Amino acid sequence: MAVMLEVKNLTTYYKTRMNERICSVDNVSFSLEDGKSLGIAGESGCGKSTLAMSVMGYYFPPLYYEGGNIVIDGKDITALNPDTIRQTVLGTEIAYIPQAAMNALNPTRKIMRFIEDVLRAHNSRLSGKEMRDLAEERFNILNLPSKVLDQYAVELSGGMKQRTVIAISTILSPKVLIADEPSSALDVSSQKIVIKLLHDLMERGFVRSMLFITHELPLLFNVTDDIMVMYAGEIVERGSAREMVFDPLMPYSKGLMNSIIVPEEGTRGHVLQAIPGVPPNLKIRPEGCRFSERCQYLDICGMKDRKGALENQAAGPGRLYRCRLDEERLRKLYREQEENARKFPLISHTFVDEKIAAVETMGEEI
Ligand SMILES: Nc1ncnc2c1ncn2[C@@H]1O[C@H](COP(=O)(O)OP(=O)(O)OP(=O)(O)O)[C@@H](O)[C@H]1O
Ligand SMILES: [Mg+2]
Repeated sequence: MAVMLEVKNLTTYYKTRMNERICSVDNVSFSLEDGKSLGIAGESGCGKSTLAMSVMGYYFPPLYYEGGNIVIDGKDITALNPDTIRQTVLGTEIAYIPQAAMNALNPTRKIMRFIEDVLRAHNSRLSGKEMRDLAEERFNILNLPSKVLDQYAVELSGGMKQRTVIAISTILSPKVLIADEPSSALDVSSQKIVIKLLHDLMERGFVRSMLFITHELPLLFNVTDDIMVMYAGEIVERGSAREMVFDPLMPYSKGLMNSIIVPEEGTRGHVLQAIPGVPPNLKIRPEGCRFSERCQYLDICGMKDRKGALENQAAGPGRLYRCRLDEERLRKLYREQEENARKFPLISHTFVDEKIAAVETMGEEI
């Protein structure tokens, strides 16, 4: 299958006012195929949004490019200057819906004006009527009322505002859409409508492939084909959504997947098992395994004294994980842990069968 987006060894950093470098995306490589969606999971501050911004190839202070390549549909956009990126890449090759975008809409402009801006940046010859027709047609296909075009952002509900932002961002039918927490601020029913809209965009070919960022793992499981886990600026695991949720390998991913919410009375909304500790400071590039300070298997893997970078290991087609322990060893450790947790039910633990129930309930809701 054709690769739509290929990111190779991408490294970007923030420069602080104190002239410190915070390397939030460090040597990241991955690819995304035509027709597929890829989810990005990870704790707050691990670099998800920075990766999303970096992948557009459009940098402005305090974010800077250090190295690596971004190839969209066979075209390397890395060396293009910002003006060329704005004119020939943003919107058509790649579109980005920033975290909290719906709250950033200028309240004094009608929705149609935003659409005109996007269309004009790409093709200045379009007449007002042509733009209007295009917008109405797209809104109709996507089941969005076209009267929204004449409204101001403040007149729209949260859910409608978010759907509108998505429709504006994708009006030029981008090859890659990056949606950063598109449904996190919404109530459950608006969330479902937003997810359905993203599905529709993919199905109709208005968006060819999608990077989807969210804290909500059941959502990732039900919405994306593959999931990547980020930790401290690195990709630490990738696999199919099913593999990642039910058979995570890297201990950090395992911890993250254990925090999947169990849909039981009273527990809904609770994170059952948080991972103790905090991620490392990215001002000093951490050596070796970046998760080591928080990992409960540190004594077994012997990573304590190891310096230098730790590479991802392959574990079957499309599956990567960053850990010194081999797959079988990790699975055995997790099995033992699960058996112990069953013996001592006071230990907070999400069992695999509960997890299946959790993600499947969510799936039915969508
Ligand atoms: N403008 C900035 N200047 C300096 N450092 C920044 C800036 N923005 C983000 N960072 C740092 O970069 C790292 C990654 O941040 P990023 O926003 O990409 O994380 P995230 O995974 O998207 O988090 P969240 O889940 O909270 O959205 C964090 O350590 C953060 O402190
Ligand atoms: Mg973010």
